[in-house]
Amino acid sequence: MPVRVAVIPAAGLGTRFLPVTRAVPKELLPVFDTPSLQHTVDEAAHAGIEEVILISNRAKPAIETFAQQATGNVRVRVVYQDSPRGLGQAVECAREAVGDAPFAVLLPDELMGDSSHLRDLITEHDRSGKSAIGLKNVPRNEVSAYGCVTPQGVPDATGRVGVRDVVEKPNSVDAPSDLVIIGRYVFSRDIWGHLAALKPATGGELQLSDAIGSLARKGGVVGVLVNCSRHDTGTPLGMLTASVDAALRRKDVSPALRAWLERRLSS
Ligand code: G1P
Repeated sequence: MPVRVAVIPAAGLGTRFLPVTRAVPKELLPVFDTPSLQHTVDEAAHAGIEEVILISNRAKPAIETFAQQATGNVRVRVVYQDSPRGLGQAVECAREAVGDAPFAVLLPDELMGDSSHLRDLITEHDRSGKSAIGLKNVPRNEVSAYGCVTPQGVPDATGRVGVRDVVEKPNSVDAPSDLVIIGRYVFSRDIWGHLAALKPATGGELQLSDAIGSLARKGGVVGVLVNCSRHDTGTPLGMLTASVDAALRRKDVSPALRAWLERRLSS
């Protein structure tokens, strides 16, 4: 069954971006001149997605306005997560809207340079029928910021590897590998049962990683290494570097920006 629906969780309150997030949701902050959320919607659309479901929070009415005005060849609708209890619960809010079809999940804190990685995940799901998750290698001291997988051996020449289990934000000593989840997923309908059975993790949150781990222990998950450029826009510095990078790629502003940066850095 083709992957035509994507879920984008956007219900967080953006506390790392205070004070600006008192007035503007983090997902609508600009990456140069485009709301960062529009980049994520475009990534989905260019991978063949036809409908995007934004999981939002009623404290962020601007997300609804964005959904009504989003550009591109996709329908965008909003589903509310009324009492946020973690990423697993956020995705589960889309259960009714998604139905039984396979679906993608894109975390908007990761900005990809293009849609190639999401397309790879969709291709892997089409081929194997399993859920496919995006992975990258990080230095050991960084694994504690991510969901970390126990792989079945090493990735093959195309970057694919079976996933035996997942643990959310392990400390570097206990981490099962240096392969971490980067916030792009394509799920088969099997994930819903594992989401419904979630128990609160430390901190009371229902973790998406725990549902993926439970599905992985039944042999239902494949990892695919990412090889396109990406920015972590979950922090103000990451958002700034993503903006500079986006402007440096633009023919109309790149020469003036380069000249200014060179002057600024040499003064
Ligand atoms: C979330 C997920 C984590 C994943 C990360 C990718 O964590 O829970 O498994 O590795 O996104 O960015 P968060 O960054 O929301 O704490």
